[in-house]
Amino acid sequence: MAPGTSGGSLVVVANRLPVERVGGRHEAGWRTSPGGLVTALAPVLERNGGTWIGWSGTDERLQPFSAEGFNLVPVSLSHADLADYYEGFSNATLWPLYHDVTGRPVFERRWWDAYVRVNQRFADVTAAACAGGATVWVQDYQLQLVPAMLRRARPDLRIGWFNHIPFPGYEIYSRLPWRRQVIEGLLGADLLGFQRRDDAANFLRAARGHAAVVTRGSVVEVGGRQLRVGAFPISIDARALDELASTQSTLDRARQLRADLGHPRVVLLGVDRLDYTKGILHRLRAYGELLDEGDLKPPEAVLVQVATPSRERVEEYQRLRDEVEGVVGRINGDHGRVGQAAVHYLHRSFPREEMAALYLTADVMLVTPLRDGMNLVAKEYVACRHDERGALVLSEFTGAADELRQAFLINPWDIDGTKEAIRRAAHQSPAAAARRMRAMRRRVFEDDVHHWAATFLGALEMVAEGR
Ligand code: ADP
Ligand code: G6P
Repeated sequence: MAPGTSGGSLVVVANRLPVERVGGRHEAGWRTSPGGLVTALAPVLERNGGTWIGWSGTDERLQPFSAEGFNLVPVSLSHADLADYYEGFSNATLWPLYHDVTGRPVFERRWWDAYVRVNQRFADVTAAACAGGATVWVQDYQLQLVPAMLRRARPDLRIGWFNHIPFPGYEIYSRLPWRRQVIEGLLGADLLGFQRRDDAANFLRAARGHAAVVTRGSVVEVGGRQLRVGAFPISIDARALDELASTQSTLDRARQLRADLGHPRVVLLGVDRLDYTKGILHRLRAYGELLDEGDLKPPEAVLVQVATPSRERVEEYQRLRDEVEGVVGRINGDHGRVGQAAVHYLHRSFPREEMAALYLTADVMLVTPLRDGMNLVAKEYVACRHDERGALVLSEFTGAADELRQAFLINPWDIDGTKEAIRRAAHQSPAAAARRMRAMRRRVFEDDVHHWAATFLGALEMVAEGR
């Protein structure tokens, strides 16, 4: 099959391709794109084949090409698109609004115009790339208008959409000046998927309130057609990660990391995109107080905080970086010694092998988002711990908390509660740790990302057949 065409197989449409272009035009290469969407979907397409339509991370106009067993169709974004559609409407309006206003959403009419324009471009590229009757799976908040635009151009397609982030409650969503248009864009799909039941219920309420549609349970009536809305909690390729974490080289690397850290009794770990939804400052505050009060004492305890650079031109992200780096500096100034930092702060991306070794090194994994659609880091940690050791401290405001009930669940706004959970996690007995980890591993291995994709696509087929 020629690159960029789909003969009835799956077509994924996401803001980003699974790989992004790095380096200058003449020495350009590719690396894995950041974030959970790519972590989850790449193994699905690698296994099943298909086409992936998305932005290449640059303003270059690239031709469709094949890599990693699937076809990639790049969509180019100009500097203005990047500023207004990506950094503006997607990440300074929708992202904070949909994450319960943990950041302040900015409403700019120019950004909305760009969002409509770029969504139309994605729909046009998709309409041209799809064979008759193809299944199209649109991803995430950046592309909410694509389902209706695509249906207008290609009524023969099966269209699903999945939201990787939360869908907010009615009062918060209602602030959006373009709330009706966004809902009408989504209503073009046959199936709308959300992470949690609450997200699906929030959407249904918004659809009734702002697009005057009739809903019956999870079914929405639109123009004589039925559309289904449901919860499909996303996951990871647990087996692949478990295998990676079991290789001799990963085990050796984990031992080396522990030695490099000075053989502490307790290694705490945070792994996040540097995003204000992740609760990094709240976590640092709790850790800093535990050090101040002598509950944890470097060099016996040490925190490794991996913070992947993210959306670096958006103002709130710049402010967050300054604050996080200020607090890390303060904690190290107060509690570090020469050659013995209290916080090891790493602001860059790492290969999967290194991430697996880090997870194996961590006695206490800190996942403390103020709001998160799912949080795959929590599931990755569990998938790597074939030794049934380690403890997961997990915010109840993540989708993952619905499934990983044996974690030390916390409210990240409650600093004392978080400190208590960290203390308990650091001191639990090996038998208790194994019991918790076994139960969490069972869940992550049963409901892996292949199960998620099969469930979503199975439901999409049923809805589209009944159309
Ligand atoms: P989000 O999608 O909001 O970024 P998730 O926790 O769901 O949050 O997914 C983050 C993904 O990015 C995980 O697969 C994680 O392993 C990966 N990741 C995070 N930080 C890094 C890093 N510094 N290097 C490589 N991968 C990273
Ligand atoms: C989250 C979003 C994804 C996004 C990723 C990385 O996972 O749900 O849609 O791709 O973050 O963010 P970025 O803005 O770099 O694509």
